[in-house]
Amino acid sequence: PTIHIITPTYSRPVQKAELTRLANTFLHVPNLHWILVEDSQRRTPLVTRLLRETGLNYTHLNVETPRNYKLRGDTRDPRIPRGTMQRNLALRWLRETFNANSSQAGIVYFADDDNTYSLELFEEMRSTRKVSVWPVAFVGGLRYESPKVNAAGKVYGWKTVFDPHRPFAIDMAGFAINLRLILFKPQAYFKLRGVKGGYQESSLLRELVTLNDLEPKAANCTKILVWHTRTEKPVLVNEGKKGFTDPNVEI
Ligand code: UGA
Ligand code: MN
Repeated sequence: PTIHIITPTYSRPVQKAELTRLANTFLHVPNLHWILVEDSQRRTPLVTRLLRETGLNYTHLNVETPRNYKLRGDTRDPRIPRGTMQRNLALRWLRETFNANSSQAGIVYFADDDNTYSLELFEEMRSTRKVSVWPVAFVGGLRYESPKVNAAGKVYGWKTVFDPHRPFAIDMAGFAINLRLILFKPQAYFKLRGVKGGYQESSLLRELVTLNDLEPKAANCTKILVWHTRTEKPVLVNEGKKGFTDPNVEI
């Protein structure tokens, strides 16, 4: 199957560095299709060029998160999930592009632009029948969060400290979905409004599966194959108000 990777991204000083690192990872993965969705009014030249030059198989989309949904200054509103409209646009694109009855075998994975992905992860998710799950490092104030798996290899709960009673207490990076399921449940999207922090993933997954359907990967969820890393904001104080370096040089 083709792995469709959905990545929301937005313009900031580290964007090109993040996307370069991500592309370098994806170049090692066979049969990958990257759906990169910019949070912007139009597709930017920076991202357009970067995608073209990677040689990857990709689709370049954009949708801007409305202003009133966005961060004001440096504080972020926890009720406003980041990347949600972008992921939903990619889901719609998949449904418009692939017919529910087509034999197009595919896997869908949401890969944020700042995380760290092992190559093994992509091989694990390739056999997803409905929804597969695995641990994610550096989330919820823990070394890692993980689905709880019993001796029979069934997921029966969530080893998290933050709200383990969420229907699916799992980070965006911790699951993959079979494309067929996305196509058969055309009404399933991430909820934009009224979603408490940490419930975004549940808002989509509850439309698609029950706990009983989940397929644990990564050696029954005992291996860490993805890290929720976050990139430090670079210090650019010496640029001053007018800028010190040549603004025509792309970073
Ligand atoms: C955590 C989760 O891991 C995300 O999957 C979830 O979307 C997010 O919380 C949330 O709902 O708030 P976190 O590291 O805090 O992630 O968020 P970011 O990595 O900053 O953003 C997630 C994705 O959305 C990234 O790919 C980022 O480039 C993109 N994004 C972020 C936008 O497209 N627009 C924005 O304004 C901010
Ligand atoms: Mn992140």
